[in-house]
Amino acid sequence: TERTFVMVKPDGVQRGLIGDIVSRFEDRGLKMVGGKFMQIDQDLAEEHYGEHADKPFFDGLVDFITSGPVFAMVWEGQDATRQVRTMMGETDPAESAPGTIRGDYGLDLGRNVIHGSDHEDEGANEREIDLFFDEDELVDWDQIDAPWLYE
Ligand code: GTP
Ligand code: MG
Repeated sequence: TERTFVMVKPDGVQRGLIGDIVSRFEDRGLKMVGGKFMQIDQDLAEEHYGEHADKPFFDGLVDFITSGPVFAMVWEGQDATRQVRTMMGETDPAESAPGTIRGDYGLDLGRNVIHGSDHEDEGANEREIDLFFDEDELVDWDQIDAPWLYE
């Protein structure tokens, strides 16, 4: 089992999509082990998106992610990082299939509703969890339907 970091971005919060996005992961069988509604400050934004520091869109990205509250979450389950990325769709909502979160709710690359740790970037999930959550903010609990989700 694996944990991954997921965040409803400021556009998703303003558009009232938190509940729907949480429902999708619950319905899939993933288990939420952390969640907080928060405002990202400049330092956290620059660290979180540090891999893009030299890109032309970096300043706009940091401005956007700090422009309003986000809902940060940790989800746990089998192959969670990859499964969440698949459910999110492509980086660009215009390229995302209907049925994916970005394909259902987004139109524009810079307003793509949700973040999830990159499964191709080894350890990104744990790094991002550590960046956003203290250990005592994560809850260890038993999911009652686990035997019906996992062989
Ligand atoms: P995140 O979950 O936000 O990290 O998205 P991602 O992993 O699918 O994409 P990536 O990490 O490559 O890019 C981070 C964010 O930068 C994306 O979510 C986009 O909003 C934005 N972004 C990426 N590429 C471009 C680009 O070419 N132009 C602009 N304007 N924004 C971009
Ligand atoms: Mg990324």
